[in-house]
Amino acid sequence: MPGSSSDAVSAPRPATGKLGIITPGLGAVATTFMAGVESVRRGHTKPIGSLTQMATIRLGKRTENRSPLIKDFVPLAALDDIVFGAWDPIADDAYTAAKKAGVLEDRDLEPIKDFLSSIKPMPAVFENKYVTRINGANVKKGKTKRDLAEQLRQDIRDFKARNKCDRVVIVWCASTEIFIKPGPKHATLEQFERAMENNDEEIAPSMLYAYAAIMEGVPFCNGAPNLSVDIPALVQLANDRGVPISGKDFKTGQTWMKTVIAPGLKARMLGLAGWYSTNILGNRDGEVLDDPASFKTKEESKLSVLHTILQPEIYPELYKGFSHVVRINYYPPRGDNKEGWDNIDIVGWMGYPMQIKVNFLCRDSILAAPIVLDLALFSDFAQRAGLKGIQEWLSFYYKSPMTAPGLQPEHDLFIQQTKLKNTLRHLMGEEQITHLGLEYYQS
Ligand SMILES: NC(=O)c1ccc[n+]([C@@H]2O[C@H](COP(=O)([O-])OP(=O)(O)OC[C@H]3O[C@@H](n4cnc5c(N)ncnc54)[C@H](O)[C@@H]3O)[C@@H](O)[C@H]2O)c1
Repeated sequence: MPGSSSDAVSAPRPATGKLGIITPGLGAVATTFMAGVESVRRGHTKPIGSLTQMATIRLGKRTENRSPLIKDFVPLAALDDIVFGAWDPIADDAYTAAKKAGVLEDRDLEPIKDFLSSIKPMPAVFENKYVTRINGANVKKGKTKRDLAEQLRQDIRDFKARNKCDRVVIVWCASTEIFIKPGPKHATLEQFERAMENNDEEIAPSMLYAYAAIMEGVPFCNGAPNLSVDIPALVQLANDRGVPISGKDFKTGQTWMKTVIAPGLKARMLGLAGWYSTNILGNRDGEVLDDPASFKTKEESKLSVLHTILQPEIYPELYKGFSHVVRINYYPPRGDNKEGWDNIDIVGWMGYPMQIKVNFLCRDSILAAPIVLDLALFSDFAQRAGLKGIQEWLSFYYKSPMTAPGLQPEHDLFIQQTKLKNTLRHLMGEEQITHLGLEYYQS
């Protein structure tokens, strides 16, 4: 077979039957994602922004001209085979939630009103202490956090049976929880389970969803910066149970831009004196992030990228001590249409200063929705390909990618993209592409 890899893995299982995608959180991101998939299925729109639907992948040598669509190369679930579900403390169905989120216009929502209205959120595991700005009555009751996790497990089993799903994936699209540091309660499964039974406050609702998913053999992706599945106890559990996990925090807007521009500066050995990012945002996510405890979780996630890309410890003359400031301002009139400003003070030849200004008028949920789709489809594929535990090749989609202990996360978008595509090639028994290309010049 042309391009066949010597260390080929066994072929991934095909994507037969239905795939359930359940999102904790049925807000702006989740409803925009579901509405988009349904609109694509009905031929109303194109899946713009989704690698699984639109990207190609080069295979073999450039002269072979083999560049299939990723979805034709890799056995991914078809959009027609997806069934949606959600949990949310607010009982609004997906149509009502989408109307309130204000992301999509009536011309896009009305034609699929029947579909969206049929998606009703299951009662959530929710505590106001972890997300202070949200109140809702569609909430589970249980004596202990362990009871609540068991109820989530039952929900997953019921959803699967009700919708005749072959497989399920869970993508966290719920609000950002308050900042929690990983501690002893998160260290081992035994300590984690005991802490659930003791209703320990170190166990946040997002961790219960992650635990329930893994126990049910369901891949779990975390779109928010809160710890959730990123704790040793759950990483170990995912490895033991053969479940792919990934996170944290969808990489959209300003951070995505950072991971495009910063590698460019470093590639040319241009210095950085400072990077100031600020934005105005008026959706409910912005309101939640207006709470300092939730903002701290987000801030940690947003601040980490520049240091790991620029490596000031290796390039002190260029990057030591640069100033990095991130602000998020809740400003209701803008709704989901965020406006971000970046001021980048860079340093060139002979120390001369220059500035780059980026004014990004983006739509948060429009950028996040295709990420939800890709993460769900790739995580399902990963499981069928026999992968388990942390899926670092999905770093491409995250602001704070999870890695093996002691490993620096890779933030450079282009390295992340190469890693993603090479992982697909590897899993499908194709050669890695190194871009060496000497063979084209050997006579
Ligand atoms: N849109 C983006 O560009 C982007 C980027 C990165 C991360 N995120 C994250 O994605 C998440 C969703 O963003 P959004 O704009 O849809 O927010 P949103 O406020 O519109 O929706 C979040 C929903 O989660 C629900 N929720 C809160 N706690 C819950 C729980 N314990 N269980 C189930 N549901 C719960 C809320 O009731 C709400 O309906 C946020 O955490 C946000 O920080 C978004």
